[in-house]
Amino acid sequence: MEEAYDRGVIEDFGRWREFSAGMWAWVFHKFTGWVLVGYLFVHIPVLSTALVGAETYTATIQGLESLPIVRVLEVGLLAVAVFHIMNGTRLLFIDLGIGLERQKVSFYASLLITAIIAVASVPTFISGVF
Ligand code: HEM
Repeated sequence: MEEAYDRGVIEDFGRWREFSAGMWAWVFHKFTGWVLVGYLFVHIPVLSTALVGAETYTATIQGLESLPIVRVLEVGLLAVAVFHIMNGTRLLFIDLGIGLERQKVSFYASLLITAIIAVASVPTFISGVF
């Protein structure tokens, strides 16, 4: 009979050195999913300033977009969204049994595509603010 042993708690992030590609994919997917939910709590109030009036909305958007930190966070938000979509699509294919033997390489491809798109977006997001 197979010997039973205590493998510890999987959510113990103190064990991050033991994490393999699949575990990092899980961590990043959770993180990006909940960042996207958190962003909506900021996004909806900002859009709601339009209810006060067009001037208030324009002033809010212009005020936010004039802040360098907001531009940097926008690059981060894009990266988070792209990774979540790429990895989420990859997970859906895995759930369908497609690409089971290429799980690691498809995770690395998700990371690479995310990095390329985030870097390519920098000139657009950062232009005119620094
Ligand atoms: C094309 C777009 C998206 C795709 C393909 C996608 C795909 C997925 C998949 C497959 C899962 C389940 C992962 C698992 O098996 O554990 C998931 C989880 C999740 N997604 Fe998305 N998603 C997308 C967009 C979004 C958006 C826009 C949000 C937020 C507004 C979001 C928030 C979340 C959250 C919070 C979870 C749960 C994370 C956890 O605690 O495990 N996703 N997504």
